[in-house]
This record gives sequence, structure tokens and C-alpha cells, in this order.
Amino acid sequence: MNIQYEEKDIILQVENLSISYGEKVIIRDVNFIERNVVRKEINQGQVVAVLGRSGRGKSTLFRALTGLVKPSSGKVLIPDYSQAPSNGMQPAKEVEEGDVGFVDQKYTLFRHKTIYDSLTFALRKSGEKGSEKKEKVMKYLIEWGLEKVKDQYPNELSGGQRQRVAIIEQLLSSGHYMVLDEPFSGLDIGNIQNARQSFKLIENGHDLNTIIFSTHDIELATELADSIYVMGYPRLDDGSLGTVGTIVRHFDLKALGIAWRTEFTQDHLELVKEIKSAMLAS
Ligand SMILES: Nc1ncnc2c1ncn2[C@@H]1O[C@H](COP(=O)(O)OP(=O)(O)OP(=O)(O)O)[C@@H](O)[C@H]1O
Ligand SMILES: [Mg+2]
Repeated sequence: MNIQYEEKDIILQVENLSISYGEKVIIRDVNFIERNVVRKEINQGQVVAVLGRSGRGKSTLFRALTGLVKPSSGKVLIPDYSQAPSNGMQPAKEVEEGDVGFVDQKYTLFRHKTIYDSLTFALRKSGEKGSEKKEKVMKYLIEWGLEKVKDQYPNELSGGQRQRVAIIEQLLSSGHYMVLDEPFSGLDIGNIQNARQSFKLIENGHDLNTIIFSTHDIELATELADSIYVMGYPRLDDGSLGTVGTIVRHFDLKALGIAWRTEFTQDHLELVKEIKSAMLAS
């Protein structure tokens, strides 16, 4: 049975985005829109996966989504919640560094702060009182199974624990958006399980929470995401393969009725096959 949902306001709009490093064009004409997904009686965030073969521009796209790299042309727009809605629509703004949480593969943490202190520091701009900050940080530490390591330093944590701290840090400092570049690479099967639970916690924490991640694990992407983009090189008019990355396919798992299932099914497997062939062709 298909799960009922509605799509509301735009939460991310990428418009004719191109990025060059010097003379070299890396990605071109990237266009997509993601909307706030609403389900009855459940906080339903958005989980978007970006797949594609190595070098097709996934990390480059992510740097643009987080405002770390300026577009050569085009725009990345997110809602501006600091402004009042007009005609029931939230005004949009171009993304700036700091608007969107970014966790790269290295999970960079402050070396000289304990986990507890790092997370409290992440709330420095929140305007909350000391006691409120403490309560919030403790709530995350408990929910994410990190209470016992709260007074340790990053180098005393495992990779999976560090990753969770890095994710919480971004959640606390940057609101609803979270971009994760290959969050599952280098994790063992148990860590992957933890990271999956982290995804669920974020996804169901707030309606507007939005995770955008890349991975080379196609099966996992079909299980976690409700929207999957494939980046690749497009076919040119003469039939040859291009050399500039763009989005070559989009799979809306909500519309396909595959999103939010609790187990891996035959439908997922079929989708994996289709994604693989789209990747191999681009
Ligand atoms: N700072 C840079 N200067 C010049 N070229 C770059 C720079 N960063 C990336 N590139 C090039 O841009 C292209 C896309 O790289 P990108 O890291 O975005 O790919 P990717 O899809 O994330 O690959 P992977 O799956 O291996 O992580 C590659 O050809 C890469 O060499
Ligand atoms: Mg990459």
C-alpha cells in the first residue's frame, strides 16, 4: 500500500547551476527542486541521495549547496526564515556559508574541546540561556548514545562516534539542512547501523529537516532516501559521452511508492538495477 503524503513549499531549488575551477567546467546546468514533504501524524523530513561515478561532481555540487563554492552561473536557493512569509510563501535567498551543515568525510572536530564542550560551543549563536543549552546538548548526547563519552576528546572516540558528534554539531549550529559527503564510507556494519539510526532521528525530528548525502552504496541509498539524483556525464548530440557532470536521472521514491518502507524489497532491487545502468551509461 502506498504511503500518503503531500508536497508543500520549496525547501531547496538549484537553478541552472554551473561550477568551474579556473578554466575547467566541472558541473553544468544542474537543475532540481525539493519540496517539504508532509505526512499525517508523523514528522517527515526529506532525505535526498546523490549518486554517480567517481569524478562526476557530487562533492563539487555539495560545496555549492553549502555556499563554500560560488556558482560560476546559476543559483542555489533556500527559504529565508528570517523574513515573514508573503502570500503564504517563504521568501527565498541564495545559500551562504553557515546556512547549511556540512559533514565531510573527515568529520573535522575541535581537537582541544571535549565532546560536551564542542556541542555547547555549536550553540553559541543560538541566543539560548546556559541551562537551555545544557539541556539540549544532553538530550542529543543521550539520544545518540554518546552520554558516556561526553567528557572525552575527539581522538579518544571511534570513527562512528566522531561521525555522530560531527553530525550533531552541524544540527545544533545550522538548523534544518545537513549535507553529508559519503557519510558511510569507512564505517563498519555496526557504525552503518548507527548512522542509519542517526538519519532516522534527523528525518523524524522536524518536518523541515533535510538530509542530502552522497554514497557509492546504491542499495543503502534506495533504503534511506526518498529522492535520488544520479550525476553523470550526459550523452552529446554525436553520441559520445560528455566530460562535464550534470544530473542525468531523478528517481522520486515517494511517487514510486518505495520511500519509507521498513525493509528492503524486490522493488528496491529493481530500482538498484535501474540506477546502476543509469550510472554506467554516464
Ligand atoms: N579544487 C579543484 N580544482 C580543480 N579541479 C577539481 C577541484 N576539485 C575537484 N576537481 C575536479 O572536479 C571533478 C569532480 O570532482 P568531485 O570531487 O566533485 O567528484 P565526485 O563525484 O565527488 O567524485 P568521488 O565519487 O570520487 O568523490 C574531478 O575531475 C576533479 O578532479
Ligand atoms: Mg566526492
